[in-house]
Amino acid sequence: MPEYPPLLTVRALSKSYRHKQALGGIDLELRAGEILAFLGPNGAGKTTTVNILTGLLRQDSGEISYSGVLFDPENAAHKRAIGVVPQENNLDRDLTVAENLRIHGYLFGLRGRELTRRIDETLELVDLQEQKNQAAAELSGGLKRRAVIARALLHHPAILFLDEPSAGLDPVSRRAIHSLTRRLNRAEGVSIFLTTHYIEEADILASRVILINAGAIAATGSPAELKAGIGKYAVEFSNDNGESTLYFEDRARAAEEAAALPGEIRIREVSLEDAFIRLTGKTIGEGSAASKHRRRS
Ligand SMILES: Nc1ncnc2c1ncn2[C@@H]1O[C@H](COP(=O)(O)OP(=O)(O)OP(=O)(O)O)[C@@H](O)[C@H]1O
Ligand SMILES: [Mg+2]
Repeated sequence: MPEYPPLLTVRALSKSYRHKQALGGIDLELRAGEILAFLGPNGAGKTTTVNILTGLLRQDSGEISYSGVLFDPENAAHKRAIGVVPQENNLDRDLTVAENLRIHGYLFGLRGRELTRRIDETLELVDLQEQKNQAAAELSGGLKRRAVIARALLHHPAILFLDEPSAGLDPVSRRAIHSLTRRLNRAEGVSIFLTTHYIEEADILASRVILINAGAIAATGSPAELKAGIGKYAVEFSNDNGESTLYFEDRARAAEEAAALPGEIRIREVSLEDAFIRLTGKTIGEGSAASKHRRRS
């Protein structure tokens, strides 16, 4: 089998805003066909990374290659390989959904019947045909997100960047975004670079996860690999010393131990949050100091 270079390779990428370092020299890869989740708390450097990898922002130093070729944000062919769904929706509110896509199509050299066909295809793909002629401003949050995804897909990119695709959406809209992400990956063959601070989103969608904290990569692996070695079940309880968590391999043992503990107790499965806490001493949700964590067999 021939060895192909990864779709995207990043080496020693760093970026500071004035005197504040946002990225401290990170390395990462995106492999063909995968959904990669870039998981970390607010301010970790996720959007900064996406903006640099998609040519919206210049790095201070470091190297970016797509399929082994050094990335040049000025090169139209390089930009055609990627589709971007930014953290903030940036549709033109006064234009219809189709008009928003049409303008994007022009920027990527699509014209005439081919463009019209592509607009219909992508709206079909994200299930937004009915809203085609509606003004973007009138769409709900979940539908706006889908319109931005359709726009990013219009020019058939091999890689789709999704920056916090489901942040701020209700559970139903969030699930719709999740199934769309899976469908794009499996049925359309799009490789996906997804940033999120939702632990569950990374856990259920990603084949590989990169944990990022304060501009540095804390760990990389499949959800199962990252959770390995912690235990399978977590027992959360509070006492005079504050919140604590105990870990167990066995559910019956966890329940037994929990029964002997005073106060409010919660038993749950171990999550990527536990992996993040173990590595960084911080939670993803609050970014605060973590409670005490101990492992029991
Ligand atoms: N334009 C800017 N000027 C100054 N500092 C910035 C700017 N953009 C980001 N930062 C800082 O850089 C760091 C990384 O920000 P970034 O937006 O990349 O984080 P993030 O992981 O995307 O966070 P979130 O989950 O909140 O979207 C933060 O400390 C942030 O305050
Ligand atoms: Mg962000």
